[in-house]
Amino acid sequence: MTHKPPVYPARDPAALEAAAKRLAEADWTRLEGAPETERALEAFHGGGHAWFIASGTASLEALLLGHGIGPGDEVISTPYTWGATISAILAVGAVPVFADIDPLSGQLDPATVEACVSPRTRAIMTVHLFGLVSDVRALQAIAQRRGLRLFEDGSQAHGARLDGKRVGLFGDGGAFSCMGMKLLAGTEGGYALFADSAACENAKLYGQHPRGLAPDQVERLSADGLLDTLQLGWRPCCVSAELVRVKLASLDAENDARRRNVAALRAALRGVEGIRLPEEIDGAEGCWHLLSVVLDPDKGPAREEFQRKLRETGAGGFVYIPTPVHRMKRLNPHGYDGPRVFWHEQILRAGIDYRETRCPQAEWRSRHSVEFPFNWTEDNREAMRQLADCLAWAAGR
Ligand SMILES: Cc1ncc(COP(=O)(O)O)c(C=O)c1O
Repeated sequence: MTHKPPVYPARDPAALEAAAKRLAEADWTRLEGAPETERALEAFHGGGHAWFIASGTASLEALLLGHGIGPGDEVISTPYTWGATISAILAVGAVPVFADIDPLSGQLDPATVEACVSPRTRAIMTVHLFGLVSDVRALQAIAQRRGLRLFEDGSQAHGARLDGKRVGLFGDGGAFSCMGMKLLAGTEGGYALFADSAACENAKLYGQHPRGLAPDQVERLSADGLLDTLQLGWRPCCVSAELVRVKLASLDAENDARRRNVAALRAALRGVEGIRLPEEIDGAEGCWHLLSVVLDPDKGPAREEFQRKLRETGAGGFVYIPTPVHRMKRLNPHGYDGPRVFWHEQILRAGIDYRETRCPQAEWRSRHSVEFPFNWTEDNREAMRQLADCLAWAAGR
């Protein structure tokens, strides 16, 4: 019994040709950034103001800084994410406050968010983890009721939709990584998508060369004494931006195929005890960047044994989040004995001690799931049957 995951990203001749043209013309860095890619991203998202920059992490920072979030502010987020979601909050001088997750889907659980609101809370940062759509409807309602910003980290969910609308603009904006293993793969890069043009302009003060600013903006900024070179080094690689622009044309078809493959896998796993796949919320069309399998502690296998057997089949599998962020040693200054970490001062000032943070579902999931890259961008029922066989065999006790 074997299963061989596909190589990703697939070599897309159109993207390679576009990138080669840029390289051949020595057109790989432009002071004005990547306006063609930005306009294409806005068309893809059906609106907003896109800014393509150096990475997903920088895009998260741009989103926060563009909305004036910084020292003294709290941002409610999930501890069950890639750490960059949280390090971006820390990098702008704010502090994260952690709500819990839904244990099956791994997404931020809106029912746990409101209890985290304090007078210092400015925003909610949700993550569409694994390419699934987090419950932005409920989060939007909370944000509106409590006067908070809502941001989406869509780094794993380019093109995912809820009620037909793509993630990124359900609240005040989104940030997306375009590093080479993502659904919308460049070489490195990312983009911030702002609902509001003023927030986008504000963010650009931190990293846009004046050549990329509109002439009236340059005039206004220089009149106000705000046109300077105090920049954060977010300039994008234009070859990467070109790969992203070209890739947009095939992204929906690839995401549709990923969804159909997951449906085939789900059907093939029906009746298999001990493992479960995340469910999508109503109206969601997620894009399954990673396949996360949750092991049932009563009926399922021990995780190490499950992984050992899967390695034998070639299907692989790894634990994507072994430690939720609120339990990471470097986060919390209390009881810390390692090298200096800059965010400890802001956390101490905020009076937060993450040892007291309770996110039992995030901790539970970090002990009971196994993740797989899911780069099946063309329909392949046979491969899904093989993967289901491997999972079922590894889950057998
Ligand atoms: C959820 C999430 N947020 C943020 C990032 C950071 O993006 P980047 O590595 O491009 O800085 C990533 C990916 O690496 C991610 O998966």
